[in-house]
Amino acid sequence: MSRRQGNANLSRRLGDNGGGLLSASSYSKSRSSPILYVALIAVGALLLLAYSHSGKGGVGNIKGAISRVQGDYSCTAELQQAIPVLKKAYGDSMHKVLHIGPDTCTVVSKLFNEEETEAWGVEPYDVEDADASCKALVRIGIVRVADIKYPLPYRPKSFSVVIVSDSLDYLSERYLNKTLPDLARVSVNGLVIFTGSPGKQRAKAAEVSKFGRAAKLRNTTWWTKFFGQVSLEENEGASKKFNIAATKMSYVANCQVFHLRPFN
Ligand SMILES: *[C@@H]1O[C@H](CO)[C@@H](O)[C@H](O)[C@H]1NC(C)=O
Ligand SMILES: *[C@@H]1O[C@H](CO)[C@@H](O)[C@H](O)[C@H]1NC(C)=O
Repeated sequence: MSRRQGNANLSRRLGDNGGGLLSASSYSKSRSSPILYVALIAVGALLLLAYSHSGKGGVGNIKGAISRVQGDYSCTAELQQAIPVLKKAYGDSMHKVLHIGPDTCTVVSKLFNEEETEAWGVEPYDVEDADASCKALVRIGIVRVADIKYPLPYRPKSFSVVIVSDSLDYLSERYLNKTLPDLARVSVNGLVIFTGSPGKQRAKAAEVSKFGRAAKLRNTTWWTKFFGQVSLEENEGASKKFNIAATKMSYVANCQVFHLRPFN
């Protein structure tokens, strides 16, 4: 009985929120009902997710996200706060964003709530603990679970802006040599890196089981040299706009934030 109720609730919600969107596909593909059913659930979950983030659930969700990201994922939490600043710095270029990092479902949902921004995510770690909305995002391909030691499953220049948080701290130089150029490869307008600052963030023992190794935090001098080694240049225009907007909006980053140009 509860199951039937659940289905009724779901279809009512879909009727309320997404009837127009769904009706075209349900008429043209009435034969492929199992696929359609999965699609319905996925779209429903997406709408619910958007609803919970835009409406009254918002505050609770943000709090939850931050408490989950404390410590281990601190730069991903900072990135979430920095989204309005990034919008100012990148303007229209923020229309098609790829985020790579832990807790990407939360980041992608927040980006979706911004006007005229579409977002995709790559989760470098497992999503077994993820909630149902996150699993739905994975099911419909908005979020992919992928090991970033290997090339990303996207064509060159698939996204306007690519943002990566935390994950690079867990890669050795050998992998960074390949991963960083690959992130630049899929971007048209730029690559933004949020990475831990030595002395400000601490590596935790619990990280090793999840990420395979403890974070190795590198300083600005190290990163700048490394970007030179892999032929990535600072995006000075974006850096400048970001810093101006950050000051205006009283945004203070504890993490290091780098803005790089894509390859031409
Ligand atoms: C990374 O690449 C640079 C230059 O391309 C090279 O000098 C360096 O040895 C490489 N590092 C590792 C660990 O493979
Ligand atoms: C940055 O880190 C390197 C080691 O990777 C160290 O030799 C250097 O002194 C550090 N620079 C600053 C300014 O802390």
